[in-house]
Amino acid sequence: MTSVTARAPGRVNLIGDHTDYNGGLCLPFAIGLGTTTTARARGDNRVRVRSTAFPEVWTGRLDDLTLAGREAMPGWVRYVAGVLWAAREAGWELPGLDLVIDSDLPRGSGLASSAALECSVAVAVGGLIDRPLDPGSRQPLAALCRRAETEYAGAPTGGMDQLVSLLGRPDHALLIDFADSSIRPVPLPLARAGLVVLVTDTGAGHELADGDGGYAQRRRECDEAAAMLGLPRLGLAWPDDLSRLDDDVHRARARHVLAESARVEDVITAVAADDWERVGSILTASHRSLRGDYAASTPALDLAVDTAVEAGAHGARLTGGGFGGSAIALVPEERALAVQNAIDAAFAADGHPAPTHRTVLPCAGAAVLAT
Ligand code: GLA
Repeated sequence: MTSVTARAPGRVNLIGDHTDYNGGLCLPFAIGLGTTTTARARGDNRVRVRSTAFPEVWTGRLDDLTLAGREAMPGWVRYVAGVLWAAREAGWELPGLDLVIDSDLPRGSGLASSAALECSVAVAVGGLIDRPLDPGSRQPLAALCRRAETEYAGAPTGGMDQLVSLLGRPDHALLIDFADSSIRPVPLPLARAGLVVLVTDTGAGHELADGDGGYAQRRRECDEAAAMLGLPRLGLAWPDDLSRLDDDVHRARARHVLAESARVEDVITAVAADDWERVGSILTASHRSLRGDYAASTPALDLAVDTAVEAGAHGARLTGGGFGGSAIALVPEERALAVQNAIDAAFAADGHPAPTHRTVLPCAGAAVLAT
């Protein structure tokens, strides 16, 4: 193969945020927006990376793809080079490469643009060297992409996004249990139920690869709370353990993590019972927990959520890491426009920049588009 084009989707997390790195449950689905990478083999040992989103073109040698070498790279290039680095670490024999990247997934929108970038590069480059992309190889590929993100790009994320970008299924969410890495597709018949998931991008980008940012700080707090309880991960704690945490911050973070995994199970039960109003109310409860106990929301996200619920959504919450990015609302199809208009009016009245809305449905995971 001399050229392979692959596309990997972004995601919405229906519920279960800040649970992955704590060994808990989450329920994301892949969406129609994503990133496309075309990989071409070169006859030399050079790598050239170009993205339609950035003016600079990065060129280097395969041997520059070391952990030390990343210091000289622009931030976005690290996500690409990180995949090549992790692939070589995993024993892939790479040729010189020309990579061209294009995306319709807004960066920093909380819709997993980094994972979509990594996974599209991994699938395109893997295709170029004839690596299989069968069901069994997708989970290890997600782990490879996660290494790129955590070890190379320096964003201490938990792995949910890469898994759903590679394993997403039309009309299904994925129940991912980070206690044992098991994954189960859960039917999510939104269209049959006359519902849409409205995504409202507040336009305030979040940055996960920032050691002092909110995301990294929450991870540290969770690790500290787990250590105080003598556990490797907070997900192993029981509700009774909360009283053993005697400072308010660690107790609140742990309370969110434990309750959020329980809410994932409650949503699955409510979906199976076709009780969408109940699903909505659990989503809204999740937002309250992310806003209060986890302190991961922003005034714009809170406004989007509160307004969506007042305007007739069954429920709403921030999705993904928070600290900016997007909110989702579960809305009867016929009320979607009214909800959207109400959010626009509320943002204008409070002086927030106009948000962007999209409706999304569960889509398939990454695929090769052309060879
Ligand atoms: C980001 C990270 C994920 C996860 C979410 C919060 O999307 O990439 O690993 O931690 O935040 O649930």
